[in-house]
Amino acid sequence: MFFENIWYCVALASEISSRPIGRVVCNRPIVLFQTAKSGTLVALEDRCPHRQAPLSMGTVIGDEIMCGYHGWVMAADGRCVHVPHQETVSRNARIESYPVAAREGFVWTWLGDPSRADPAEIPEMPWLVADDRSSILSRFHARANDQLMADNLLDVSHADFLHAGSFGSRAGQRGETDTVRQEMETWTKPGSVHSRRVLKNVALGPMAAAWGGFTEPVTRTTSQNWRPTNTINIELAMENRENRILINHDHIMTPETETSSHYFFAFTRDFVLDGGYPNDEDMRREQETTIRTEDIPMVEAQQRNRIAFGDPLDVPGQADKFLIAVHRRIAEMRGER
Ligand code: FES
Ligand SMILES: [Fe+2]
Repeated sequence: MFFENIWYCVALASEISSRPIGRVVCNRPIVLFQTAKSGTLVALEDRCPHRQAPLSMGTVIGDEIMCGYHGWVMAADGRCVHVPHQETVSRNARIESYPVAAREGFVWTWLGDPSRADPAEIPEMPWLVADDRSSILSRFHARANDQLMADNLLDVSHADFLHAGSFGSRAGQRGETDTVRQEMETWTKPGSVHSRRVLKNVALGPMAAAWGGFTEPVTRTTSQNWRPTNTINIELAMENRENRILINHDHIMTPETETSSHYFFAFTRDFVLDGGYPNDEDMRREQETTIRTEDIPMVEAQQRNRIAFGDPLDVPGQADKFLIAVHRRIAEMRGER
């Protein structure tokens, strides 16, 4: 079902501290924390080898974690190093420790063969830390399969409908198509799939118009980049003679179970960096509201329908080219495993 030898985004770096957090990834409960002494990032199975209590209910002490039930202590490598009132510790008292790394504000874990885990393979997103940009990072939970949630980003034409009242445009709405010109291309590289969509002479929704102070139609160029398993980086440029603004929005989907997922998100802008509207808080409110009230409810409803109707076959449209290319690539990867 799930890819094993791959990096999964499991947390925002801002969530990690010496207070352990539990998270289910690919049906596997893991505990994440930073050691209190050396500040090392640790990912372990979220269970105590004694009697399987979650370590996420325990306490980090120095560079180790103590189970909250009977006080057994585990080192960062998963070995139990202390049992209260006992001289020796059974060699069987150990749990899995997973490779873990933080990069540009996200935390990634590798659940497969640890000898194959190379942090250089974690998708890089340099714009998140560029000096001339400002970013916000968020995490959501969706009661939908991670691929279904990712597919939401692989067909940006939904922005013209689902988000027509917020940051979308109205391109494609019946009666408004004739003034908008659309060009779309999709291409594949060895480790990624790409798509570019250009909309010319398009009227923006109220939110996007306010970001750039646009009063006239713009050219809206969306460049998308998909990397396995489901990291989708989108660059959005909007321009006319009044202004040009550039946005990167990143969406990373990680399976929690077959029918639920973790959704990590970043939004980076190159405009209004010195106060005024929009600032980081405006962006956080607008983006989190849109994803929570528009995207996730639609995809969760799709998931319920897929179950209710026995997962019927989809009927693709021309706008689905990118989605189809990505699905083809994933099918190839499953064959390659
Ligand atoms: S279950 Fe953890 S110490 Fe007993
Ligand atoms: Fe959306």
